Amino acid sequence: MSQGGPRTSNESHHKLNGKPLIDNHIGNTFSRKQKIAQHRKSLPIASVEKRLVDEVRNNDTLIVVGETGSGKTTQLPQFLFNSGFCRDGKIIGITQPRRVAAVTVAKRVAEECGVELGQRVGYSIRFEDRTCSSTRIKYMTDGLLLREALVDPYLSRYSVIIVDEAHERTVHTDVLLGLLKKVQKARSKSFSVCLGVETKKPNNATLLNKDNDVFLKQCQGRKFPPLKLIIMSASLDARGFSEYFGGGRAVHVQGRQFPVDIFYTHHAEPDYLDAALITILQVHLEEGPGDILVFLTGQEEIESVERLIKERLQLLPEGSRKLLTVPIFSALPSEKQMRVFTPAPAGFRKVILATNIAETSVTIPGIKFVIDPGFVKARSYDPVKGMESLIIVPTSKAQALQRSGRAGREGPGKCFRLYPESEFEKLEDSTKPEIKRCNLSNVILQLKALGFDDILGFDFMEKPSRASIVKSLEQLFLLGALTDECKLSDPVGRQMAQLPLDPVYSRALILASQFNCLEEMLITVAMLSVESIFYAPREKLEEARTAMKCFSSPEGDHVTLVNVYRASNELLEKRVMGLTKEKNEKILSKWCKENFVNSRSLRHARDVHSQIRGNVEQMGLRVASCGDDMLQFRRCLAASFFLNAALKQPEGTYRALASGQVVQVHPSSVLFRSKPECIVFNELVQTNHKYVRNITRIDYLWLSELAPQYYCAQN
Ligand code: CDP
Ligand code: MG
Repeated sequence: MSQGGPRTSNESHHKLNGKPLIDNHIGNTFSRKQKIAQHRKSLPIASVEKRLVDEVRNNDTLIVVGETGSGKTTQLPQFLFNSGFCRDGKIIGITQPRRVAAVTVAKRVAEECGVELGQRVGYSIRFEDRTCSSTRIKYMTDGLLLREALVDPYLSRYSVIIVDEAHERTVHTDVLLGLLKKVQKARSKSFSVCLGVETKKPNNATLLNKDNDVFLKQCQGRKFPPLKLIIMSASLDARGFSEYFGGGRAVHVQGRQFPVDIFYTHHAEPDYLDAALITILQVHLEEGPGDILVFLTGQEEIESVERLIKERLQLLPEGSRKLLTVPIFSALPSEKQMRVFTPAPAGFRKVILATNIAETSVTIPGIKFVIDPGFVKARSYDPVKGMESLIIVPTSKAQALQRSGRAGREGPGKCFRLYPESEFEKLEDSTKPEIKRCNLSNVILQLKALGFDDILGFDFMEKPSRASIVKSLEQLFLLGALTDECKLSDPVGRQMAQLPLDPVYSRALILASQFNCLEEMLITVAMLSVESIFYAPREKLEEARTAMKCFSSPEGDHVTLVNVYRASNELLEKRVMGLTKEKNEKILSKWCKENFVNSRSLRHARDVHSQIRGNVEQMGLRVASCGDDMLQFRRCLAASFFLNAALKQPEGTYRALASGQVVQVHPSSVLFRSKPECIVFNELVQTNHKYVRNITRIDYLWLSELAPQYYCAQN
């Protein structure tokens, strides 16, 4: 009866209707525990535990480099915890560039430690906190730690901070590295001063002369224990990090890598999704056992390949259909994300369709075949036009190598690159750090709020271009976050920095309290902060369109989103009396299904809404509703999103006023057909056309009235 695990006294023979009363749960848990312990011991990092702990003790900054899957992320924090780095209630913080990694790894580590998630081991990501006062190992996104610094500038709760996946060089990682360098310096100085080690001038005047900035000044007279900093990277080149940290010590964790055969196509593939589909089926039908990992660029591609695989499988003989598709992308609910770690049922092959999450941040066991079309979705910023967009670009050589490496973790593997070998040679060696290709308003606002006024002089590992810093400063100024002297304005700038949102959305909330439509704006911002609210399966496109019509407003997509949210509210208010939470959830899910609303996105939006509502109430903003006066709400949208206004051109396209770009209304917009004269939009999507999404109809004359700082100065 027990499957493999030793029989325990609890595992009795009582049965109810033929089923064991306690089933195999205990037996399975027991064997799972043993399996996990064994797995931990077998990881390459396990053999260097003592050495690593000593290195951390002896060095304030350490760079740990090791192949993906060697156990850095899951094991090192546990080693440090067990070696007393959390004494006095201090926390070990581990930052991840991706939410998915923070969540899945925290779950895994909680299980390895045999504790409940959210207790000793937890995670914290934007809009979701699974930690408590007894949390000691905390996984979080790099952006979240930056936010924490706003309330605790010396990160005083942490004894160790591990910046994981540093090779990814996200904009938040780069800013965090600069901040941590300062925090570490400030904390070690405050400590030596309070210990009386600073012999020359114990009143620490020298420190202030050397580092004459607000940040260090704030630290004067306070004492903090020193901060240990660990930078972890999967890229074997630690030089850049080491130099940045003044010759920081680097250690290499030896990985285990089996040979991977690389295959290229003869010709460039005109349709890489189709090529991926064919390769998946070919591998499935012709190769021996082993799971397949396919790298796609985003949720839409993943869902469409998933559907195509299912369709094609139906055409195969019964015996060849044992292929299980498992998607993983950031917007997937976390229970579903964990499915990638579950082995396929006996006789089945698993095909994992992943974004580049699976490149280094999440290691999935059992992979023997990698299919790499060679593309990735990346942020791109044009500082002249002040426009940021997501575009699909070829990977770098380093990324291609990381991807193929995933096939050789447990044995020899194969990687199919869906492009000719000559193309590989043309790829960039490594990916350009994100800080060089994104809008910086958000991080600049945070740095300003932390007291770093001289952004051009900030000690970045790699400086963003002067043009993009200046453009972002200009945007912040236009939004009212900065004064004429480029200082953080009070209260607007300060309030904007406190909200966990893009500066444009923070500004919209603040303005809405003046326009008496903060209720509507809170809903709008919450709905815009989640993945798409509507979903339209191909086979039911017409039905979905009809359903959407009940909500759609001739004013535009923002009012439409408010309508959906309100309809869901009414439904719950009507039903809530006397019903359990589960029952309500069910009713909501059913309603969503009938109305082609993505229930996961709507629930997420409801959570985000309640959090940001809490934030604005705390700030003392007045939450009022404009009722049916949508004119007021549209004026507020115009005043908030004036940088994204566009005018209709004679041929039916639009010209964005700030950037001069010619754009089109996205077919998913409720204004796709009516095409009003003047609009504001939230998002620019670039495929073969430039599309704008989330649009509202406005009056052109409002722009100079509501945003004179921009539109009057221009004319
Ligand atoms: O950080 P690094 O890439 O060095 O490795 P890791 O993420 O610590 O993963 C170590 C091992 O734990 C790998 O074999 C993963 O497959 C496994 N793991 C897992 O089984 N489930 C997770 N949620 C995370 C990791
Ligand atoms: Mg890792």
